[in-house]
Amino acid sequence: MTVLEAIQSRQSIREYDANVTISQEEIKTMLEEAGRAPSSWNLQPWRFVVIQDPAIKAQLKPYVYFNVPQLETSSFLVLILNDLKRYDLFPILNDLELKAGYVTAEQAQARQAKADQAKTTRTLESLDREGLLDCGIVAQNLMLVAKGHGYDSCPMGGFDRDHFMKILELDTSRYKPVVLISIGKAKGSLRPSLRFPTDAITIFK
Ligand SMILES: Cc1cc2nc3c(=O)[nH]c(=O)nc-3n(C[C@H](O)[C@H](O)[C@H](O)COP(=O)(O)O)c2cc1C
Repeated sequence: MTVLEAIQSRQSIREYDANVTISQEEIKTMLEEAGRAPSSWNLQPWRFVVIQDPAIKAQLKPYVYFNVPQLETSSFLVLILNDLKRYDLFPILNDLELKAGYVTAEQAQARQAKADQAKTTRTLESLDREGLLDCGIVAQNLMLVAKGHGYDSCPMGGFDRDHFMKILELDTSRYKPVVLISIGKAKGSLRPSLRFPTDAITIFK
């Protein structure tokens, strides 16, 4: 499947074949592929919470509002979080780049000093705003990657974030929930959703 075919065939699927299971290995591959997304300063602030356990799904059920079919029939869900403490992971990236020969030891040290400074000076508001965009991009990548693997998806903003964070035992001072994505094999078919004519939403200068 080409990228264009994935873009054109993706639809928000709300009911899946509940008998389809996707291996953890394939899930990891899809997350790795989605993570090729661009991000501000390559800080990759997205964190993935993969939800498969039926007992956890049952606990989350009261908090997904009208999105119960996606929760119950998808093979798995991914909660995408924006990590407000993303600079804590910077040494990992710096080390990878050093080992790859992209930076010298001195450059790596200088970059770490810069990251340490940013960590203490950047506001939560700017980390939140910037991360929202980065997480949106990785979310779309994940839905297209899922298509490429033969699966369907639905992005969901309709869930109770406070209860999700509590049930999943996540640190609310560090992580901001951005979007929930269900992934599985579509049951039945949907008519394609429509879009504004490009002329109505485009300004050429
Ligand atoms: C940020 C965001 C939140 C959304 N939340 C929900 C949701 O809670 N439940 C749902 O069924 N669809 C949700 N959608 C899917 C949209 O309804 C869907 O993308 C839109 O109607 C266009 O349809 P399509 O994705 O099939 O092209 C959401 C989409 C986005 C981008």
